Amino acid sequence: MYIKRKGSIAGPPFKIPFMGPFLQALHPKFESYLAQWASGPLSCVSVFHKFVVLASDRDLAHKVFKSPGHVKPCIVPIAEDIMGSRAWIFLQGKSHAEYRRGLAGLFTPKALSTYLPVQEKVYSDYFDKFVDITQANGGNPTQFMGCFREINCALSCRTFFGDYISQEAVKKIANDFYLVTAALELVNIPLSMYIPFTKPWLGKRTADAVQVEFAKCAAACKANMASGAKPTCIVDQWVLHMMDSKSYYEQVAAGETNVTKPTSLIREFTNLEIAQTLFTFLFASQDASSSATTWLFQVLAQRPDVLGRLREENLSVRGGDRNRPFDLNMYESLPYTNAVIKELLRHRPPVIFVPYIATKNFPITPNYTVPKGAIVVPSCYPALHDPVAYPNPEVFDPERWITGDAESKTKNWLVFGAGAHDCLARKYVPLIMAHMIGKAALELDWKHHATERSEEIRVFATLFPMDGCPLTFTERS
Ligand code: HEM
Repeated sequence: MYIKRKGSIAGPPFKIPFMGPFLQALHPKFESYLAQWASGPLSCVSVFHKFVVLASDRDLAHKVFKSPGHVKPCIVPIAEDIMGSRAWIFLQGKSHAEYRRGLAGLFTPKALSTYLPVQEKVYSDYFDKFVDITQANGGNPTQFMGCFREINCALSCRTFFGDYISQEAVKKIANDFYLVTAALELVNIPLSMYIPFTKPWLGKRTADAVQVEFAKCAAACKANMASGAKPTCIVDQWVLHMMDSKSYYEQVAAGETNVTKPTSLIREFTNLEIAQTLFTFLFASQDASSSATTWLFQVLAQRPDVLGRLREENLSVRGGDRNRPFDLNMYESLPYTNAVIKELLRHRPPVIFVPYIATKNFPITPNYTVPKGAIVVPSCYPALHDPVAYPNPEVFDPERWITGDAESKTKNWLVFGAGAHDCLARKYVPLIMAHMIGKAALELDWKHHATERSEEIRVFATLFPMDGCPLTFTERS
């Protein structure tokens, strides 16, 4: 069966009966992916009953992302248990597009600007913590990867739920969410089973507890917004849209004329639906954002020339007052900071591929048809390290976005995927990264204590430095 499915594409000539390269799947190595991508534009591997086709070629990756008639996102089977099988990201076609349209209002510039104060506070609190951690460790390096996961979790929880969520809950979610990632270990298909006391089982329990907490916050938000409060977080914006839509329908039903129609009309969502949806946001953001943050601090510590320019630009946009809170107008005047962020996301793309599943036989090229039921994986990394689009792709070079032509290589820009399921937060992510690194550059000094494993890449759903990113932080005088 394996040989038949493999057809003409690259891949091992035989499969170890039944289990296939199970041990490699348990401990995926970044180098193995590089080798697999290099083996051909389409290649395959089979682990247990799963047949997996990898598309390394940029155009074939686009074809997968943009063939909703043949493929749907699949993550891993346990993902449906963890996020709820009715979670919106598993919807397809028209119902998915409609749901997504209802969420787009949460990421407009106007909405994004209302989240900035709460985010500024998260950064202030955690930057103090970074300095305290170094002090408590006697000025010695600490692996900051875990702290970066925590700051991102806090950032997400506060952006989603503002002050409706307690600091204890944020801390607990940040700690426990690691279990969700471990449960899903995106490439670790063989263990994606739902057996008590396994990683997936623990992950599911955590996910359920987080959703209960989120549902409580949704209820508190509805009560607060009904009392006329101003929106300060995502759930506020969403509930406000619901209230505006409801009021519009009621006025029209009452026969009123000249009623102003909201830009998007949405239905009312239950607390549980809100909790589930914001849990999908947390799931989508946590690993990718933590990966980007870790590399951002590591790379900038290694490149004082880049950090110096970024610092200068951020001070200047704040009119010389380094304590001035960040706003959207500033963001528009930070070309160098934006170039640094784009280059970071290109150089160390958090998401290296996105697993989809073929819902029917999928003729991906004239010579090869992905069999129905196979996992088909469009890859993002090869396009982002393509030496034709980005000369010297292994070099971190923000200049390519300023004086070079990197900006014009839109087809290679697969950091956020493509097509109907592309990242909902593709505008939000650079904004929060610019806010975080600009503020850090002005308030903190940090040093990377390189080890021989600092440039080795660990795949834990997304990419991280193998040594956990040893850093020391001090306050800038
Ligand atoms: C560095 C940070 C991030 C990266 C690199 C990233 C990347 C991605 C990628 C590659 C996909 C799959 C796209 C596809 O299948 O075509 C995705 C989907 C998604 N992302 Fe992000 N993401 C990031 C942060 C976030 C954040 C912060 C949020 C939410 C606040 C978010 C929300 C989503 C959602 C909801 C989806 C699924 C969309 C759908 O199925 O329609 N992401 N992201």
